[in-house]
This record gives sequence, structure tokens and C-alpha cells, in this order.
Amino acid sequence: MSDNILFSPFTLKGLTLPNRIVMAPMTRSMAPEGIPGQPNAGYYRRRAEGEAGLILTEGTVVNRPASRNMPGIPFFHGEQALAGWKQVVDAVHAARGRIGPQIWHTGSTRSGEWEPDAPVESPSGLVGPGDARGMTMSEEDIADTVDAFARAAAEAKRLGFDVVELHGAHGYLIDQFFWQGTNLRTDAFGGKTISERSRFAADIVRAVRASVGPEFPLILRVSQWKQQDYAARLAETPQEMTEWLVPLVEAGVDILHCSQRRFWEPEFPDVDGNDGLNFAGWAKKLTGAATISVGSVGLADDFFGAFGGQGSGTAALDNLYTRMEREEFDLIAVGRALLSDPQWVQKIRTGRLEDLHGFQAEDLGTLF
Ligand SMILES: Cc1cc2nc3c(=O)[nH]c(=O)nc-3n(C[C@H](O)[C@H](O)[C@H](O)COP(=O)(O)O)c2cc1C
Repeated sequence: MSDNILFSPFTLKGLTLPNRIVMAPMTRSMAPEGIPGQPNAGYYRRRAEGEAGLILTEGTVVNRPASRNMPGIPFFHGEQALAGWKQVVDAVHAARGRIGPQIWHTGSTRSGEWEPDAPVESPSGLVGPGDARGMTMSEEDIADTVDAFARAAAEAKRLGFDVVELHGAHGYLIDQFFWQGTNLRTDAFGGKTISERSRFAADIVRAVRASVGPEFPLILRVSQWKQQDYAARLAETPQEMTEWLVPLVEAGVDILHCSQRRFWEPEFPDVDGNDGLNFAGWAKKLTGAATISVGSVGLADDFFGAFGGQGSGTAALDNLYTRMEREEFDLIAVGRALLSDPQWVQKIRTGRLEDLHGFQAEDLGTLF
């Protein structure tokens, strides 16, 4: 596997990754009182030892009231939480890994019945189309939130993280501004077009870029789908995607992390066919930025059988190599397979396929 495209290095600004595999950000809800500790540091260290090219942490929240929707989500502010994150960075670096936090605000989303201490906030007091929840943010709230993202990013750099990722996907706060179903504002942060509704994200990107300087790699995660509606789309055409993403790259994003649920699904099949570019492919083509793809790599039917030369997934895996070889996107993120098997990357590189421990739902319950 060592001559595989997956195991060729990737360089951006001062950062060189030894391979193209990124650990996808995954919420684990196992930071007691919002403070990451040794168990969390060990969890990420094991993925670094297992040769993940870049680790993106679980979403970790900015300093706003009600910025998280579940207890156990880590804070990215306050002395204790930041000291906890320092342990995580040091543990990963000691294992020769590279890591960035995914900085987050969960907007008005709800997870289970848990209620934060303060009312939740969002662009228009909605969690989905016609579904009221929490407060509408004032312009002061917006300005303070932009600043909170910038401060968190500056802390990431100060603590020694290698990159920072902003979570602009999946129906959380930034995406609630993008989505016309949740952004009904009539001020400068709303509007009929996706570029108007991107103003909040662009302000955050500009503020973050100013706080970390020109050389620190900045990733923005975006998605068409939302946890409130898997079929929702922000961009129906390449033209709309251009209007959405180009201003964000111009504001200072280095890498677009294009979240889709299955990496092999074409983004605009009407334009370039059923074997056409996926989301990360189109984003790279339209913006010129580096991109990360993601979605169901390493899950049973699509991958394990494929490596063993059996099973139904050969096409899907060949599909990944083909897309990477034609430079459709630069990096591939792997979520559940790496959650269940810290050695996943190393096992793939060395061909130890019979040792792969496939994703099992019960693995979500522990950090190992
Ligand atoms: C348990 C779990 C938690 C997740 N938490 C986050 C998160 O905090 N931030 C995020 O952007 N995506 C999150 N995701 C989505 C993953 O990053 C990834 O996009 C998704 O799992 C698809 O990749 P996979 O098929 O390789 O697992 C989560 C996924 C899982 C399974």
C-alpha cells in the first residue's frame, strides 16, 4: 500500500502531512464539565501513533452562552479547558502526529432533552424551517460571536495546534446563517442569495485569519446536508456554489472540508454525469482551494471486502483512488472507521487487512 496515492505527502503553507488521511471530527461527549483530560489525550494520541495524517478533534465550543447542545462537549475557552487541550496537543505531538481543533457553536440545535443554562441563539430563532426555538441574535450577539471564534482560533495557535477548523456544516450555527430555512433576517446577515447569507461566515473567517496571521492553515467545514434535513441543499448549481464558497476562500480559508455522507456520490450529476465530481471535487474546481472529502470510507460493505478483493465494495474503493489520482480533491477524512480502530491507517498502509476492526455502534460508548 505504500505507493498508494493515500500515502503520498501533502504540503500546505508550513504544514506537511505524511499521508492524505484525516481523522474526521467526531463528538464524543466525554469531556466531564467540558474539560478534556488524560482519557481524551490518550484517545487522540493513539490515532497519531496509528499514523493518521492529520487529526481534527471533536467539535469544541466558543465562548458564548449556550454554545453547546450536550454536556460532555469540550469548551475551547477558560483556563482549565485550554490546559486540557494543551495536554492533547502535547500527547499527539509526542507521537509525531498533527492536530487541529474543530471550533464550534451548535446554534439552536437540540440534542436529546438536555437544556443549556442560557437560551439557545440562532439567526432567526429557528432550528428548522417553521420550527421556532430560542432567541434571534442581535447585531451585538453576532459581533461577539465573531470575536469568540477569533479568540478561540488565536488560542489554538498559542497552544501549538497545527491547524484550526471552523465548523460551518450540518445545520449548526454558521450553517443556520447559510440556510434560507433558518435565516430570515432582513439585515446585512440575511438575504435571498447564498452569498448574502454567507456574510456571517465570511466575517468569522476574516476575523480568524486576522487573529492567527497569514501562515496558519485554516480549514472551513461546509455541507449541503443538515442534521435537520439530509436532503437540504445550499447550492443547487455550480454557479450558486461559486457564490457561496469563493467569498469564503477570499476571506482567508485555505482548505474546504466538504462534508457528504458518501464520497462517491456526484454533486451535480445533471452537469457532469453519474460519475461526475463529488462535493469536494466541485469545491476545488470552482474555488481553486485545497479540499478534503469524506463519507463512508472504511465501512463494511464499501471497503473491507474491497481490500480483500471480495465483497460488494470494490467499486467504491477503486472510486476513491481514481478520484484522488485525478486530483479531484486533496485529502480524505475518515470518521467511524478510525473511531473503532486507532490503528486503521497503519493497518491499511501495511496491508494488515485481516486485523481491521470494523466500526461497531457500541464503540461510540467508550474512548479507546
Ligand atoms: C459519533 C460521531 C460524531 C460526529 N461529530 C461531528 C462533529 O463534532 N463535527 C463534525 O463536523 N462532524 C461530526 N461527525 C461527522 C463526521 O465528521 C463524518 O463527516 C461522518 O461520520 C462521515 O464520515 P465516516 O463515514 O467516515 O464516518 C460525527 C460523526 C460521528 C459518527
